[in-house]
Amino acid sequence: MSKNITSVLHETRSFGPSDEFRKKAKISSVEEYQKLYRQSLDEPDKFWGDIANELHWFKSWDKTVDWNEPFVKWFVGGKTNPSYNALDYQIEQGRGDKVAFLFEGEPGDSKEITYTEMLIKVSKLANALKYRGIAKGDRVAIYMPMIPEAVIAMLACARIGATHSVVFGGFSAQALADRINDAEAKAVITADGGYRRGGVLPLKPAVDEALKICSSVDTVIVVERANNPIDMRKGRDFWYHDLVNNASDYCPAEELDSEHPLFILYTSGSTGTPKGVLHTVGGYQTYTYLTNKYVFDQKEEDVFWCTADVGWVTGHSYIAYGPMFNGVTQVIYEGTPNTPHFGRFWELVEKYKVNIFYTAPTAIRAFMKWGNEHVEKFDLSSLRLLGTVGEPINPEAWIWYREMIGKNNCPIVDTWWQTETGGIMLTTLPGAHDAKPGSAGLPFFGVEAAIVNAQAEELEDNEGGFLVIKRPWPSMIRTVYGDDERYKQTYFGEIPHVYFAGDGARRDEDGYYWIMGRVDDVVNVSGHRLGTMEVESALVAHSLVAEAAVVSRPDSLTGEAIVAFVSLEGGKEGSDDLVKELRDHVTKEIGAIAKPAEIRFSDALPKTRSGKIMRRLLRSIASGEEVKGDISTLEDKSVVEKLLKQAKIQK
Ligand code: WT7
Repeated sequence: MSKNITSVLHETRSFGPSDEFRKKAKISSVEEYQKLYRQSLDEPDKFWGDIANELHWFKSWDKTVDWNEPFVKWFVGGKTNPSYNALDYQIEQGRGDKVAFLFEGEPGDSKEITYTEMLIKVSKLANALKYRGIAKGDRVAIYMPMIPEAVIAMLACARIGATHSVVFGGFSAQALADRINDAEAKAVITADGGYRRGGVLPLKPAVDEALKICSSVDTVIVVERANNPIDMRKGRDFWYHDLVNNASDYCPAEELDSEHPLFILYTSGSTGTPKGVLHTVGGYQTYTYLTNKYVFDQKEEDVFWCTADVGWVTGHSYIAYGPMFNGVTQVIYEGTPNTPHFGRFWELVEKYKVNIFYTAPTAIRAFMKWGNEHVEKFDLSSLRLLGTVGEPINPEAWIWYREMIGKNNCPIVDTWWQTETGGIMLTTLPGAHDAKPGSAGLPFFGVEAAIVNAQAEELEDNEGGFLVIKRPWPSMIRTVYGDDERYKQTYFGEIPHVYFAGDGARRDEDGYYWIMGRVDDVVNVSGHRLGTMEVESALVAHSLVAEAAVVSRPDSLTGEAIVAFVSLEGGKEGSDDLVKELRDHVTKEIGAIAKPAEIRFSDALPKTRSGKIMRRLLRSIASGEEVKGDISTLEDKSVVEKLLKQAKIQK
């Protein structure tokens, strides 16, 4: 971890909600926020108990929170089911005929699914899983395009108490296999393929490839979506439509213990293989319910569109779960924002009269680049609230989002959180707070955040330090699946007695947090986390590569881009063909998101005398910055000179 973090961003503008927005908002003043925030910290049992009780429990809990650092339990002894809360409980409240999903396929096909129809579909698939011998406690991998069946699959697993592990459809067969094996999944739910960028992204062939090295799986359920040719292995592979046609349309929801494992979601860290972040039933449902309600100021008649893929945590918490617990109508779109034209998202906002729109800064920067004319063609007057997530947003993009998309009439919530936090931790509340472009805002209810140094000492306002959380909240990670020690080390091992997951930040004099990015070896490409280690291992696995060091450099579109420094076996020379081959190799090992933007060959890498690669130096070289700071520990200074010379030639 670097010792000093200097903040360079000085942004002084701020924007409050209109009187009209404020008047109708669920939380409409700073005082109201402060009162609830105080209560959430001073009387957590009462605060969280009341919130949890806004959802359905088969049996109430005996104890609200049980903290045995670093392990936490919430609503101990309670019994509930998130699938029941997302479906049956909504129908009980009169939302049976309300549309849950407005689905739009990339080719332009569309359909509506009501809450009652969702319950039937989820029940049928749950019964099909049971028929295939999947039971409470088993793990199921989900590898799907962005179609309603992805959410149906998640809720079907939850319904019977099977723990789902969604693997992003853009990950390779190898990455899928690693995740299936780590979780020892018994079944995979997938599709033949999905429509993406005007073509078909085949998924089932990747599953077949993965299963060659996975022995735990005996069932593959395949949704027919893109009609691409695939193989079906008898006895193992089943068409989704065949199974559900034969299944009964009601499946009672299992009464699950509050700490029953709901899902595993793999995410990258600075060391080792991806970590299986484990979330459990009761706390996760309570926190995603509450954050969705207040951060997005959800109203009964709202149409909500979160553009994330269910392969990431945003698609879990703010598509499959949080909004469902609030009985919201949502848009799901299968494809990319520029297919078949650059105004596709805005066309859908107009078509479905979207009121609340939640996306990532990298997407906003792409829209800016594509040009205003693609936005101006469509009527965006239905929008009333905008959100962002995934990485710090640059004020320029924030202002563009406000003016071009929000027409200066929609508050913007910049939401900071992580796979591990399960739900939004820092944000402004749209009807209460002024937003400052580039700041993620204030702690949400129950979140005791702080900026500290490595000894956990709190820093002054505006001093850069480590962002930590000082007490457990309901949707915090419970452990790294199968590895309690790694959990402890990663999140509670670096800074004593607080949760720390790798971001640097400062807090200003108004209490607003400004995220400065990761302080560990994690790259954030388009809002997706990748460990530099993983990319390095993929590169080194190639027979011609002797050593690799992966760093990030700033990128105006994706936030950060991956730069790989590679030295070859036997001092061989690199070539353009080899660059292509290595990029393809990383795509095959991990997925296209991990493909280096740049590969630079070097006969040696800068190392300390103890043999550690000096990534700090490489980062400066990759960003075209001057190489500053202490290089006295460097073993061979000529390596740096060579790399710098080479960088000049490339410019
Ligand atoms: C990392 C978590 C949370 C869902 C998407 C990413 C960065 C996330 C923000 C934000 C600045 C942000 C952090 C964090 N990040 N949201 N609003 N402002 N940075 O989930 O893959 O677990 O990544 O994304 O660096 O640690 P994730």
